[in-house]
Amino acid sequence: MNPAPMAWRVLADADAVALAAARLMIQAAAEAIEQRGRFRLVLAGGRTPEAAYRLLAHQASDWARWECYFGDERCLPADHAERNSQMVERALLSRVPLAPGQVHPIAAERGAEEAAVAYARIIAAAAPFDLVLLGVGEDGHTASLFPGRPLDPEAWVIPVHDAPKPPPDRVSLGLRGLQSSRQLLVLATGAGKREALRGWRAGAALPIAQVCRDRRVTLLLDEAADPGAGPAVS
Ligand code: 6PG
Repeated sequence: MNPAPMAWRVLADADAVALAAARLMIQAAAEAIEQRGRFRLVLAGGRTPEAAYRLLAHQASDWARWECYFGDERCLPADHAERNSQMVERALLSRVPLAPGQVHPIAAERGAEEAAVAYARIIAAAAPFDLVLLGVGEDGHTASLFPGRPLDPEAWVIPVHDAPKPPPDRVSLGLRGLQSSRQLLVLATGAGKREALRGWRAGAALPIAQVCRDRRVTLLLDEAADPGAGPAVS
């Protein structure tokens, strides 16, 4: 059965998107913990989600029931400031009472191939997730799935090389990994994302569109990223 059409929520600005995202994640956590005793969340990298993570850290939740995974990681040393894991650590994980075993970083410092094989075992064992958080690139990429590259529907985790967004080497959840979730929450702010969202809404086979196709999706965007009023995207 196809899920409900995608929820496309335009908010005033990036701060409003961050607050709505934090509240949505807290709500999803409460439902998952009540129904299944735990909340399995895949975290997004990049800049957009950072404000939402900082707000999340001030919310009340049964943090002992959270299990955090990553949607992608850059092949940099584990303590490199540009790592997605470092951003998430600064904005969220250092501010909430999670035990080390509740956070599952991608060992991207070991190289894309080796890290992808190791993380695929972790992700396949953990799926399905309760919520996968995603950003959108200006070219319509999401996680480290970039346009023009065929997506294997069976791939849990893939190595990425020659990424157009530096650094070139990355590890990313693949289509199967990102879609194995009860819901997807996508964040997009700023005028730079407008064309990608316009293409997505027009049916372009962008990575974000392929990941979200036929899934339960909420897109939170600000007015700057809004390509104009338009129908929901199924
Ligand atoms: C990364 C992210 C990437 C990000 C988009 C949007 O490693 O950079 O995984 O997919 O979500 O590029 O980035 P911004 O949120 O910084 O615009």
